[in-house]
Amino acid sequence: MKKKYYFGSNLKMYKTVSETMNYLHSLEDLTGDISREKMELFILPSFISLDRAINEIDPDLIRIGAQTMFWEDEGQYTGEISPVMLCSMGIRFVMVGHSERRNVFRESNMEEGYRMRAALHHKMTALLCVGESLVDKEKGIAKEVIMEQMKTGLFGITPDNAAGIRIAYEPGWAIGTAGKPAEPFYIESIHEMIKETLLEMFHETAENVPVLYGGSVNLDNAVSYAQLPAVDGLFIGRSAWEADKFNKLLREVLLAES
Ligand code: PGA
Repeated sequence: MKKKYYFGSNLKMYKTVSETMNYLHSLEDLTGDISREKMELFILPSFISLDRAINEIDPDLIRIGAQTMFWEDEGQYTGEISPVMLCSMGIRFVMVGHSERRNVFRESNMEEGYRMRAALHHKMTALLCVGESLVDKEKGIAKEVIMEQMKTGLFGITPDNAAGIRIAYEPGWAIGTAGKPAEPFYIESIHEMIKETLLEMFHETAENVPVLYGGSVNLDNAVSYAQLPAVDGLFIGRSAWEADKFNKLLREVLLAES
């Protein structure tokens, strides 16, 4: 029996400000009766929606976070958003290293490490996404690739900061419209490896780091994924972008657990 489930969604480059607010208000209403001791719900809208979202949405019901950020506090970095800027708006949650950031924008493990350290330095919660590509999987190096993403992405972070970390395992080949849902046994074996790596790095504080699964999570597979012993929650794209569908999905997971 899990103490708490973590559910989150990254809205990617979808939804205008008004669409985002309609979505967030519906999700807030639909899920308002569910005890937050049983689950945490977080949503990552685009930068332009953050200000309204953080001011209008009850933080006890939905945590609002950014999809990425730069690691410096300020400077000559045109187009970037800094941790100081996010914190000044009240945003205390940031995702780092989503597979689209790594693949489309060529972000490196080392850069994700800078972001993670900057986020924790500013006392933000930082969700590090890790996952292998299809080629990595076919070469049989998935675990090595994920290990490197973790060791470099979390380099220099001390065990007393572990409580600010979340991990999302998202295999690149399972994400998005071209994604193929992963088999539960495969997910469990990678999550176990992630948890062992966390234990090695953070010792007893590793148990404060939730490890979420993401990649083509939908109503058909959510319960089987969420019930895997090493899975602490689900990180969902497409199947979470309509509030009523997301509400249905997370209720099915919670019901199956009770
Ligand atoms: P998906 O996206 O659920 O639409 O596959 C997951 C993600 O990119 O985080």
